[in-house]
Amino acid sequence: MRKKQKRFQDNFESPLVIEPGKPVFESIKGRWNEVQFKNDNPITLELACGRGEYSVGFGKIHKDRNYIGVDIKGARLWKGMKEAAEYELNNVAFLRTHIAQIGNFFDTGEVDEIWIIHPDPRPKKSDTHRRLTSPRYLNLYKAFLKEGSWVHLKTDNTPLFEYSVETLQSREDVNELTYTFDIYSSPMLKDHCGIQTRYEKEALEQGISIKYLKFRLG
Ligand SMILES: C[S@@+](CC[C@H](N)C(=O)[O-])C[C@H]1O[C@@H](n2cnc3c(N)ncnc32)[C@H](O)[C@@H]1O
Repeated sequence: MRKKQKRFQDNFESPLVIEPGKPVFESIKGRWNEVQFKNDNPITLELACGRGEYSVGFGKIHKDRNYIGVDIKGARLWKGMKEAAEYELNNVAFLRTHIAQIGNFFDTGEVDEIWIIHPDPRPKKSDTHRRLTSPRYLNLYKAFLKEGSWVHLKTDNTPLFEYSVETLQSREDVNELTYTFDIYSSPMLKDHCGIQTRYEKEALEQGISIKYLKFRLG
């Protein structure tokens, strides 16, 4: 069996991966804590999670919170699923979906925090609405975030970062926006708990600085 197909099969058999074809995929909205985590702890989303380094990394540190990594690519999610299973992290899960559909999976006030980790920069002007910090996406997040929740963005891409800061500064529902163009020489460094994704390590090796911002939404 090809490597990717094996990973897809592993995902399908794993209770940690919520994806199309499983009944729970259609019915989990508003019920993550009841059905998946079986506790009342606050939920953090990691968007564009790739291999899920943040969900797994935070999940190991903060056992009193629940983490859901979201990405469209199953073969990448597989890596996070494997590590979460190996460490028996029952506070970590993965959702395979396009983030444009995320409103189908979370109910009003169900989510407590969002991390957006090195999302695709979408540099074309015609793709502005596909950036994960565009007004369209911010409005999607607001629909299920608890009022005033923290949203965090890390990126190595300066145009995406500048676009994000400008977009956020123009909104009345954004508060306490703080940012740095180089997290590794900033007092904000402590926020990321020392977690580096594979993508971030590659950027650092090329001498690219890592930009970071956070704000409260709603
Ligand atoms: C540049 S990679 C970064 C992955 C990871 N966060 C890291 O830092 O290594 C961007 C990720 O976002 C995912 N992605 C991009 N747009 C998406 C969307 N609209 N919905 C779901 N996943 C998306 C891709 O599949 C990819 O895994």
